Amino acid sequence: MRIGIINGPNLNLLGKREPETYGTQDFDSFLDVLKKDYPHIEFEYVQSNTEGELVNQLHQMGRNTDGIILNGAAYTHTSIALGDAVAAIGTPVVEVHISNVYQREIFRKSSYVSSHAKGLIAGFGLRGYRLAVESLL
Ligand code: DQA
Repeated sequence: MRIGIINGPNLNLLGKREPETYGTQDFDSFLDVLKKDYPHIEFEYVQSNTEGELVNQLHQMGRNTDGIILNGAAYTHTSIALGDAVAAIGTPVVEVHISNVYQREIFRKSSYVSSHAKGLIAGFGLRGYRLAVESLL
């Protein structure tokens, strides 16, 4: 099985960025553990701060993977293109947010992705990605 993980803008700063909201662990070290815990899964990981690149990656992973875990970060709340890309591909997409976006500012309560996603996981920290893997399995 092949699972794609796509992280959007500013998530390259995980571990350093607003640790009270997003925790202190960087994504690469989390991914190393995830890969060890699921040795039979082939993970493909990309992070981009660019909207169009996230769309391109959804198209590409839509062809190459069995499921995609998407944290579109701020583009979740602003990007019709990101939502359209999720709708366009046949591959199941699980939307993940590290923080509970429903406990935060009003603009974080809306998502262009959710209505096209298979499901949504928010508020469980990086553990949310692990829950998303389980849901795809
Ligand atoms: C986030 C929540 C978004 O509102 C925010 O813009 C992010 C990260 C999360 O994982 O909690 O950058 O997607």
